[in-house]
Amino acid sequence: MLVMVPPHPLIKHWISVLRNEQTPCAIFKNAMAELGRLLIYEATRDWLPTISGEIQSPMGVATVEFIDPREPVMVIPILRAGLALAEHAPSVLPAIKTYHLGMRRDETTLQPSTYLNNMPDMFPEGSRVLLVDPMLATGGTIVAAIDLLKDRGIENKQIKIISAVAAPPALEKLSKKFPGLRVYTGMIDPVINEKGFIVPGLGDAGDRSFG
Ligand code: PRP
Repeated sequence: MLVMVPPHPLIKHWISVLRNEQTPCAIFKNAMAELGRLLIYEATRDWLPTISGEIQSPMGVATVEFIDPREPVMVIPILRAGLALAEHAPSVLPAIKTYHLGMRRDETTLQPSTYLNNMPDMFPEGSRVLLVDPMLATGGTIVAAIDLLKDRGIENKQIKIISAVAAPPALEKLSKKFPGLRVYTGMIDPVINEKGFIVPGLGDAGDRSFG
């Protein structure tokens, strides 16, 4: 499994805004969206099929390349917090389809449950999927989400995870269960506490984005 922490100062900047407990809700959500914009850009740099042709510019004929609209990237935010991280996906990527996955982690057992899923029964062959969730803590939620993708014909190599902060338990679980997966994260933090929160982390990304 590949885990990428893109070494960009803007990514460090937005992570720092997110970490600050003084950051108010609206600015937190905006920082999450900006971080998502950068991570999505990084994750898709070698991943977008193009079509080429010739076009007339005001000064002559140019050979051009466009993103192929027939092969949209499937963007799947895991609600709630993933909505903020995926907010700019439609402006970064010219061709996407968005599906929503609502998952809630029980505060006591830390087990995830799904309360919303509008994904198709099967994805088209060769689909590329960006699965977007800011926090990879115990890894229970992201593993359950990938299991749902696999039920729908998606293989590990077709998935890229976009997250703000990842912790070792989640990364270990992912790498054991889904070899070939690629994870793009703003930061890796060392531990999770007894309540399943990443330390130092960002706090509860869903509550901090949506109140
Ligand atoms: C948080 C977070 C992840 C999950 C991570 O969501 O956004 O989805 O917990 O934890 P895990 O790796 O231990 O499974 P939460 O259930 O709090 O929902 P929310 O986004 O609606 O706040």
